[in-house]
Amino acid sequence: MSILSLPFLEGYIRMANDGFLQGWHERNGGNLTYRMAEEEVAAARPFFKPQPGDWTDIGVEVPGLAGEYFLATGSGKYFRNVILAPQDNICIAEIDGTGRQYRVVWGLEAGGKPTSEFPTHLMNHSVKKRVTNGEHRVIYHAHTPSLIALTYVLPLTDKAFSQVLWQSATECPVVFPGGVGVVEWMVPGGRDIAIATSKLMEKYDVAVWAHHGLFCSGPDFDITFGLMHTVEKSADIYVRVLSCGQGVRQTITSDNLRAIAREFGVVLREELLD
Ligand code: 13P
Ligand code: ZN
Repeated sequence: MSILSLPFLEGYIRMANDGFLQGWHERNGGNLTYRMAEEEVAAARPFFKPQPGDWTDIGVEVPGLAGEYFLATGSGKYFRNVILAPQDNICIAEIDGTGRQYRVVWGLEAGGKPTSEFPTHLMNHSVKKRVTNGEHRVIYHAHTPSLIALTYVLPLTDKAFSQVLWQSATECPVVFPGGVGVVEWMVPGGRDIAIATSKLMEKYDVAVWAHHGLFCSGPDFDITFGLMHTVEKSADIYVRVLSCGQGVRQTITSDNLRAIAREFGVVLREELLD
């Protein structure tokens, strides 16, 4: 029996590889974290290092995550290598009793530390754990090319992005009725971008990082990967529309979107509609 055959680790590794195969993870681009359930921690514990890593400052405070355990990609590690050598490219990190520090208890066997976006991931997890009553467990950051392209041509507003993404594929308003939030360009990896993103996560499951990529939150690997996939596909369709060079002759109107919402029993964020 290996830790790698535990279902949550299998699901995590499959998701990382699927993201790589989509072309969202050049080099070390992107990162993925998963808040483990208590029974998953218990099943993994026999495989933990005899001597855990040193306690290290997270850089932000997440008291709501005290004592939690996270699967995380390693900083500078490549998604394409996760499936080949998970133990060297990902880790399990334990959060201390104050929510200020973490230590590695499994993985990154050849050295390293959790993703440089750990502060953003943890602040997002903290918000999402609270607002979903513990339902959300996955935070996923990817360098999705079509969505990134749109951040050069659309106004950097929640409304502009939500409308374009809802209008570019009919089922989008059903998949993310809450819309998407937009963070203007900021230096990645630090406290400021973590705070800005986590504020958006109070109301959205999707945050666009201008000229950089996308953050998605969800309860499990399927739903979170599916959300990223749907948003990026919709962005890709809009890029193709613009590439035709004719402008947009017709689209799905705000009233059409309201009709979809009524039929499918979802509530669209009205302030994002015309
Ligand atoms: P890491 O390799 O530290 O996860 O950074 C990749 C990235 O996408 C930063 O935004
Ligand atoms: Zn990135």
